[in-house]
Amino acid sequence: MSTLKRILVTGGAGFLGSHLCERLVDQGHDVICLDNFFTSQKSNVAHLLAKPNFELVRHDVTLPVYLEVDEIYNLACPAAPGHYQFNPIKTMKTSVMGAINVLGIAKRCRAKILQASTSEVYGDPDVHPQPESYRGSVNPIGRRACYDEGKRAAETLFMDYHRMNRINVRVVRIFNTYGPRMHPFDGRVVSNFIRQALQGEPITIFGEGNQTRSFCYRDCMVEGMIRMMGAPDDFIGPVNLGNPDEFSIEELAGLVLELTGSRSKLVHQPLPADDPTQRQPDITLAREHLGWEPRVPLREGLAKTIEWFRTIDLGHYRPPTPNY
Ligand SMILES: NC(=O)c1ccc[n+]([C@@H]2O[C@H](COP(=O)([O-])OP(=O)(O)OC[C@H]3O[C@@H](n4cnc5c(N)ncnc54)[C@H](O)[C@@H]3O)[C@@H](O)[C@H]2O)c1
Repeated sequence: MSTLKRILVTGGAGFLGSHLCERLVDQGHDVICLDNFFTSQKSNVAHLLAKPNFELVRHDVTLPVYLEVDEIYNLACPAAPGHYQFNPIKTMKTSVMGAINVLGIAKRCRAKILQASTSEVYGDPDVHPQPESYRGSVNPIGRRACYDEGKRAAETLFMDYHRMNRINVRVVRIFNTYGPRMHPFDGRVVSNFIRQALQGEPITIFGEGNQTRSFCYRDCMVEGMIRMMGAPDDFIGPVNLGNPDEFSIEELAGLVLELTGSRSKLVHQPLPADDPTQRQPDITLAREHLGWEPRVPLREGLAKTIEWFRTIDLGHYRPPTPNY
């Protein structure tokens, strides 16, 4: 029997999705990339369009779609705060109705399905580092709730479809990931700092800059997702995928300045509401069950990301929201 599969990647034109599509196409699978281009552009997958085993479908996951596939990676959802707060109701619909629609495909086709969940399900955590057993501390009525609670509801749906309909599900909780093809105006700290440094603009630090984050390079994350899809059927997650090395925002700014050779000044602005002060994955489960851990150090990943930022035309990227 062929090991090659028909694979649907929702949100496949995005930052992580486009790299995932690339990896799966290279492995020889038949890949359908479904996206409404809310936070991405066709150029992310333009190089795949001529491949006979790649297909691009413009579609919104909040609407049903009928496709025949063996595996589904569900990534469709705006991921950066500026993007998901642009239309919070739509964000919640994308997470919840999108999950229902793709789980429906999985049920009909008996396909295996992976949900790209997030460390945001832990909210502003009071446990460090966060293991998967930690249930989180999310403000259900705050500005981040459309994303955090939407992703929590999607996890619930995945587990209920698994229990009720015996769908073969996988849930990965993705922590901060960066790399080439991240949207330069997504408002995330890595893209902000690199863009500001390269343009010689002041580097904006929210708060004192001593809040910490962990940063995982794109290729390591996509490798973790593919491993999770291939994991034994008794390991369905949720599993944390991220880099446990913590860096303060100030340290990150210093590294970006050094690697870009920029003379930008650091400026401080007030912290946004519900911004977590610390976020660090406990990746014991991923190490044990998937033999996975991030391999690319921050300095190396940042250098590759900066190299990519130098090659792009910022005018090509429409800041999709007024909040970037
Ligand atoms: N990058 C990270 O650090 C990170 C962290 C945690 C979780 N995640 C999750 O990983 C997934 C991919 O994130 P990313 O960083 O590549 O973000 P991204 O914004 O680049 O990708 C999301 C993609 O989904 C598409 N999309 C959004 N709404 C849609 C809809 N209604 N119908 C169809 N397509 C839609 C967007 O156009 C985009 O191409 C998301 O689900 C996100 O929540 C990412």
